[in-house]
Amino acid sequence: MAESKEYKIPRHVAIIMDGNGRWAKKRFLPRKAGHVQGSRVAEQICEDAYDLGIEYLTYYAFSTENWARPQDEVDALMNLLRKYMKDSIERSSRNNMRVRVIGDISALAPDLQESIRKLEEVSASNTGLKFQVAINYGGRDEILRAVRKAAEKVKEGELKPEDINEEIFYGFFDTAGIPYPDLMIRTSGEMRTSNFLPWQLAYSEFYFTDVLWPDFNKKELKKALDYYNGRERRFGGV
Ligand code: FPP
Repeated sequence: MAESKEYKIPRHVAIIMDGNGRWAKKRFLPRKAGHVQGSRVAEQICEDAYDLGIEYLTYYAFSTENWARPQDEVDALMNLLRKYMKDSIERSSRNNMRVRVIGDISALAPDLQESIRKLEEVSASNTGLKFQVAINYGGRDEILRAVRKAAEKVKEGELKPEDINEEIFYGFFDTAGIPYPDLMIRTSGEMRTSNFLPWQLAYSEFYFTDVLWPDFNKKELKKALDYYNGRERRFGGV
């Protein structure tokens, strides 16, 4: 991809993986089949992103609003995440990925919370892709939780209100220590950010594509990087 010296690879890419349900519907399959395919694509894109030189990748896997979906779909998503966390405990020692979950995990099933803690612990010093998965994540909720943590410090006399600046406040976020995303990608044609990283995306470039998440691949990721670089290659078209 490094066709010219100036080609910039975004350091941090955040992705809203949308369109799993529509992908399944087009094939007369249940919505959860779309999520199964979506999770395969999610794993592949982790590898592709790292190959392309991306250091940080963050996925929106389950929002604070997704609990409102039918129970069997919520269960299917939780089971996929459960399997992902369990498999990754072993896999992370091979692929060298550091995994962090962002969001309020206290609402998740205890066994899932346990797998998440274990995975974060075993992968903490890995030096490959820095991978964040947002589960029960809402951006406003993250900001409110950060405010509460800061207020608690003020109450305990460990922090003065006048000392709170952007850097100190960001230290209370789930993504503390992680650089803000350079590029946000949303698939399936929706042009919203849906409560995903509102603080962190303030200056990011946004790339929207009609491709449904289960159809997303390395070629589509490269198109997003081209867009980020201010050029749209048309691959022979007009
Ligand atoms: C949006 O599609 C997708 C989700 C709400 C779930 C995303 C989760 C995964 C891809 C699986 C787990 C991820 C990992 C990291 C293993 P939608 O259902 O809203 O699609 P629609 O808009 O077409 O209905």
